[in-house]
Amino acid sequence: MSFEKKILCIGAGYVGGPTMAMIAFQCPQYRVTVVDINAERIAAWNSDELPIYEPGLDEIVKAARGRNLFFSTDIQRGIRENDIIFVSVNTPTKTFGHGAGMASDLQYLEKTARQILEYSESSKIVIEKSTLPVRTALAMERILNCRKNGIRFDILSNPEFLAEGTAIRDLNQPDRVLIGSQETESGRKARQTLMDIYANWVPKEKIITSNIWSSELSKLVANAFLAQRISSINAISAFCEKAEADVTEVSRAVGMDSRIGPRFLNASIGFGGSCFKKDILNLVYLCRHYGLNEVADYWESVVKMNDYQQERFVRTMLGAMFNTLAGKTICLWGFAFKADTDDTRESPAIFIAKRLMEEQAEVVISDPKALKNARIDLAGFEDRVRYVEDPVQAAEGCHAIAILTEWDLYRNLDFNKIFEGMVKPAFIFDGRNILDHRRCFDIGFNVYPIGKPPLTHF
Ligand code: NAD
Ligand code: UGA
Repeated sequence: MSFEKKILCIGAGYVGGPTMAMIAFQCPQYRVTVVDINAERIAAWNSDELPIYEPGLDEIVKAARGRNLFFSTDIQRGIRENDIIFVSVNTPTKTFGHGAGMASDLQYLEKTARQILEYSESSKIVIEKSTLPVRTALAMERILNCRKNGIRFDILSNPEFLAEGTAIRDLNQPDRVLIGSQETESGRKARQTLMDIYANWVPKEKIITSNIWSSELSKLVANAFLAQRISSINAISAFCEKAEADVTEVSRAVGMDSRIGPRFLNASIGFGGSCFKKDILNLVYLCRHYGLNEVADYWESVVKMNDYQQERFVRTMLGAMFNTLAGKTICLWGFAFKADTDDTRESPAIFIAKRLMEEQAEVVISDPKALKNARIDLAGFEDRVRYVEDPVQAAEGCHAIAILTEWDLYRNLDFNKIFEGMVKPAFIFDGRNILDHRRCFDIGFNVYPIGKPPLTHF
């Protein structure tokens, strides 16, 4: 069968897999191949148990896989046989050398660029899908176009804005698709090729274009703004607890201002996920690089507030439970960084679990999807942690429950039964404000929400 376009994605992770599955699902006339160096991951993409949990993903992968969607470890062949290459490799925070803890580690990206150069036998469009520091496209271009053998590479920036847990909906109905390109004739042609792909299912007015640096920067800024809203409301949650105000009421009142809007104003134990912190730190690093120290400090405070909120949650637990957690058993409901994902990268649950163990508490962890990753995150702490999938069983014999992920299943459990099975006085620390606090209090729990007065029996 001959396909209209042959598309490759390098990197079969949380972005590469779902994004390419959506293109293949929407465009049966294109062949889409996803490659990765991680053979285990590729095997999982080819199996009935996909390597990531994402609502709706199974269905679209099953519809397209083997038809026009393929997963492979053969990177060399993938590069040779495809004309349009998305690069969706990981770009974590650097852990070593200059810029450690702040700058992006671009080694995976650079390796990919060199592989593309080595194996290409014809001209290609190379699309940055990974989130990258501003002006990375220039480095890509320099690496790729360093040989003068008639092969040309056009670099586009096409950042991804999907959120985990809602990735399929976000890909199917994106708020916008952003494509950054060079304003040269071939840059414009490459841009049109990519616009044509998205136009198969995305309304034209939602496909926007910009210069390549604006596109790279917009991705960092979008994440910084979203995270800044969470840090802002979390800062106010601390104030609410002192002033006996209710942060949910404050969010509602503030969010109804159409200039502010209601979303991303849920106070919590702090934001997690692989990107917010990494992308803000990257922005901070770039600001400092350009000598913009005040700008850097401003954005860095978003991350500092997030650290403060996580520590504050642990301090609230300590204070409420008579200033000692030693020998007590705390049940954590939820370990994923948000609901509807198995992803635990940068989950506040990791920090909180470790802090509780530092206070010499025993920890029981429950999560419907993330226990496998939780075990990896807490390797070495086996003597102090137990993993129990069922939340009711997990709470049995515990002194407190801390809700760390807003999974829907926690809202309607049998709290009378849970209360009976716990050590008294029993505590609930609702780090996501998802429970009916009054009901839990009436059953006998001492309830500590975020940003609201606690309901206690003392
Ligand atoms: P991930 O770690 O889940 O996946 C990256 C994959 O790239 C891994 O499977 C890794 O093995 C593979 N890889 C690395 N080097 C390779 C190479 N040389 N050749 C082939 N494969 C290689 O990461 P992710 O969450 O999918 O994120 C990818 C990028 O997308 C990051 O830059 C991230 O900031 C950005 N992003 C992520 C999200 C998200 O929700 N996770 C959303 C938007 C943007
Ligand atoms: C985020 C962005 O929403 C995506 O647009 C972006 O593409 C992605 O980062 C990325 O670049 O990786 P994601 O991290 O998957 O997506 O999930 P979010 O829904 O943004 O949640 C991030 C964290 O903030 C979670 O820990 C969540 O629980 C927390 N959060 C979110 C709050 O504490 N309060 C809120 O009101 C909203």
